[in-house]
Amino acid sequence: MPSVFIKTYGCQMNERDSEAVAAQLVAKGYTLAPSEAAADVILLNTCSVRDFAEKKAIGKMQNLAADARKNRPDVVLGFMGCMAQSRGQELIDRLPDVDLVLGTQKFHHAADYLDEILAGHRDKIVDVAVEQGSEATIREHLLNGNAQKSVTAYVSIMQGCNQRCTFCIVPDTRGEERSRGIPDIVAECRQLVSQGVKEITLLGQIVTSYGKRGGSSRETKVEGREPEIFLPSTLDARPSTTKTPFVQLLDAVHEIEGLERIRFAAPHPKGYGDDLIEAYTRLPKLVESAHLPVQSGSDRVLKLMHRGYTRERFLGLIKKLRRAKPDIGITTDIIVGFPGETEDDFEQTLSLAREVEFDNAYIFKYSQRRDTPAADMPGQVPQKIREQRNHRLLETVNGIGRRKYDAFVGRRTQILVEGPSRKNPARMTGRTRCNKIVVFDPAGREHRGQLLDVKITRAGSFTLYGDPAILE
Ligand code: SAH
Ligand code: F3S
Repeated sequence: MPSVFIKTYGCQMNERDSEAVAAQLVAKGYTLAPSEAAADVILLNTCSVRDFAEKKAIGKMQNLAADARKNRPDVVLGFMGCMAQSRGQELIDRLPDVDLVLGTQKFHHAADYLDEILAGHRDKIVDVAVEQGSEATIREHLLNGNAQKSVTAYVSIMQGCNQRCTFCIVPDTRGEERSRGIPDIVAECRQLVSQGVKEITLLGQIVTSYGKRGGSSRETKVEGREPEIFLPSTLDARPSTTKTPFVQLLDAVHEIEGLERIRFAAPHPKGYGDDLIEAYTRLPKLVESAHLPVQSGSDRVLKLMHRGYTRERFLGLIKKLRRAKPDIGITTDIIVGFPGETEDDFEQTLSLAREVEFDNAYIFKYSQRRDTPAADMPGQVPQKIREQRNHRLLETVNGIGRRKYDAFVGRRTQILVEGPSRKNPARMTGRTRCNKIVVFDPAGREHRGQLLDVKITRAGSFTLYGDPAILE
């Protein structure tokens, strides 16, 4: 059977999609190639969030195509994911060696399409159409493909985003919000736990909107009527008036025996209600960690971005979270150089970063995306200033992160051991509940999948080093 190699760009959602496609192909008899050079089929799972990510994938495909033409004319090349969705046929027009372009609602057709191409029945396939119910089709897992993945797993709970932040291409590449039903998600989580998974990360582009609109259990929606609340049949007995569907989902997943930890990504500050904050105090498996993209510290810019909250509301949210869980690890995403961002706006972002003291922040230089409102806004910020602001913010954020990590030294903390460290396979890595990576020397023991107490002995750059032996 043919072998396949999938290279993934971008976010956790993409990693999850690649895993599901790989699992689907393996189930059909394909093997996973250890490298591009050894593969009969090479798929690039792409990201469109920034221009740089698109350029990287296109550059990579150009190299693969040049090599294929010279050395391996039979190799099948494909784009899938976000850039495939937004560019479609245009990708084949530009790179005629590409055989397959598979959009974000079509991952479950990957095996059939590749079969047809490999058998010579079809030459090129471009499928980027909208497909009803596709949110519930990403469910296969590849638990033995990667040692670290069998302890932790991603589960996709929804697709798409309706927020339409003015800078963001995701609503175009991932489509309208569509959520899977709670029983369906719980069944997938249960299955994973029965196979040894201890920690599940629930994934979606905007998980705080989970179940608010669309979805597989919505197909009977009556025209012209506001759909009823997305109630899982298993939880009907509970008072649900104050609980959002997302918190109802957390409750349901929390009940799975054998599951140790629950995480989720990515929430939106706007939908982060008191019921979700309260869930941290109520559900012990929900770990003390939150990735809360703020994007800017300036109300003026937040409004231009169409984020739906103010600086004050965001700061209030952080306060509430820390009141509920003082040790909570909080990370964020920030964009610098959004159109119209003045020095004063940027200073407000700097001051917000100092005030919140994020454990880490992912900083992005604003990148113009086609067909997004911000791309045509006046006051596009010169590249040089975007770079300077990126650098200044990075220094601030890294300084704070450094202090936060240093403060762990000498502390005892619980980690879930995921597997060998990627940099040094003789060492093991795990994560604290607040999502910090801890590297330690296993001293010959098999700790994988265990919850282990370690003493932190040293802090590196966004990594902690620990020693389980000191505690024994
Ligand atoms: N809700 C999703 C957002 C996906 S995009 C999630 O958090 O997973 C991830 C991050 O990329 C965003 O939070 C934003 O900070 C950044 N980003 C999105 N569009 C961008 C653009 N046009 N330029 C620069 N950064 C962008
Ligand atoms: Fe993008 Fe905003 Fe949705 S950042 S994914 S449009 S919440």
